[in-house]
Amino acid sequence: MTIDNLVGLIGWPTSHSISPIMHNQAFHAVGLKNWCYVPMPVSPTPSTRIKEAVLGLRALGFRGANVTVPYKEKVIPYVDSLTDEAQALGAVNTIVVEKDGHLCGHNTDARGFLADLEEHNLSLKNSRALVLGAGGSSRAIVYALLKAGCSEVVIFNRTEEKARELANRYKEYFPQATICGRQLSEENLKLSRDFKLVVNTTSVGLTHHDNEMPWFESVAFAPNQVVYDLIYNPNITALLKHAHRHGATTISGLGMLIHQGALAFSLWTGLPPPLEAMKQAAYAALK
Ligand code: ATR
Repeated sequence: MTIDNLVGLIGWPTSHSISPIMHNQAFHAVGLKNWCYVPMPVSPTPSTRIKEAVLGLRALGFRGANVTVPYKEKVIPYVDSLTDEAQALGAVNTIVVEKDGHLCGHNTDARGFLADLEEHNLSLKNSRALVLGAGGSSRAIVYALLKAGCSEVVIFNRTEEKARELANRYKEYFPQATICGRQLSEENLKLSRDFKLVVNTTSVGLTHHDNEMPWFESVAFAPNQVVYDLIYNPNITALLKHAHRHGATTISGLGMLIHQGALAFSLWTGLPPPLEAMKQAAYAALK
């Protein structure tokens, strides 16, 4: 069988990603034997490499790609069009190469996050949410929370200016909601009570720093709160352990990873995603 449908992951690095395992398992599960997902590490130097990589998708006959850190914003000038959502987010995590070679930039992160919240039966209509971090991932999460009907989203970041900028970005899209940015500090977190959901989008707590958390031991959680950590490796971060000790409900980022991947799978193949096979592959890859 010839592999004549290629997709892959553009990022730097890509070796830690479980997306190749998850997608190749998905192709296998639906009988797409001539599809293959490959890691495509693109060096940040020279800076022209990312342009060459995106345009190369068309030249090499790829069906599409995922895009991860640090290129979600950088690929935008090189695609031919953006979906409304990718435009609003200012970030692309999926590229589809259409039949005529047109490169369309999509973003499935926000919908992937919402699909996972739905799977956890979490409704956010008129709720208040707190987001830790104001980088690329935070953009998708804040957008998703506002789309889900949160009445208030407060972004806490080490660099306060970035939190404020992100809040301002979405004020024009969601004028009915209260959105603000604050300094991530012990004092500010202690004053921030009654949030239904707390989401960590920072990189604090990832493998190699797994005893760190973007939170403070002295700040408690309540049993009616839900704490969601976008990090999925380790699957239970120091933040989730802290939240669990206080009786809060905890959710790791693995579900979002699977759902954003499932949406990308459908964009490339036009088929419903084999969600169970993707879940099994993701859990097995992390063991
Ligand atoms: P991503 O695309 O994964 O979101 P990013 O855009 O580099 O990555 O954003 C990383 C986020 O983690 C930022 O909010 C960053 O805070 P700053 O804006 O102040 O840099 C946050 N972050 C990283 N290391 C941190 C640390 N040690 N303490 C607190 N926040 C941290």
